[in-house]
Amino acid sequence: MKPTIIAALFASTALATPVAQADKPISTPSPTTLVSGALWIRAVTSPNYHKYLQTKPANVPGTAVLDSHTTAGQFNIEGGQLVNKVSNPPLYLWVEEPADKANPPRTLATYFNTTKNPFGTFAWQGDALTWSVPSVKRQNVGAWLVCKNQALFINTGAYSYQTPAGCADQTIHYYNDKTANN
Ligand SMILES: *[C@@H]1O[C@H](CO)[C@@H](O)[C@H](O)[C@H]1NC(C)=O
Repeated sequence: MKPTIIAALFASTALATPVAQADKPISTPSPTTLVSGALWIRAVTSPNYHKYLQTKPANVPGTAVLDSHTTAGQFNIEGGQLVNKVSNPPLYLWVEEPADKANPPRTLATYFNTTKNPFGTFAWQGDALTWSVPSVKRQNVGAWLVCKNQALFINTGAYSYQTPAGCADQTIHYYNDKTANN
């Protein structure tokens, strides 16, 4: 058994059920050419230059990561939701909701789920992906952090200032060429 499967078994017995439930989507590889209405989303600076938004395994609920162009996911923004356009059913990017919104933690986790994200709004600013919610003040709505295991977080603080250990400041951008270039 893969370690991830063993971990999932333990998690499902020991803790509240994590992401996958009800109509569990099955992992299918993302098409390597862009489908109609979809966009690639990627970082464009070191250390995550041309790393693309996706989940591992592909197209199932789970942590949002930036990783190889060969497994890049395909997305778009619809009604403020960041939607996976190649999963079945569609998956939506969620943002961890902090208990204390006036003093939020520096990082808010992001992950895909089968239902719409109830917390905040995704939007493009030019080609940059932003997330905002009135209850959490952010200096830069396009500030993201990529941390352990390439996991993607909202940066509630300033971009490139007192970067948390183990994380890298990134902005992330859509890209609409036919293939996800390295
Ligand atoms: C996924 O969505 C379901 C239904 O809205 C919700 O109950 C569950 O808490 C969500 N999972 C996570 C990890 O937030």
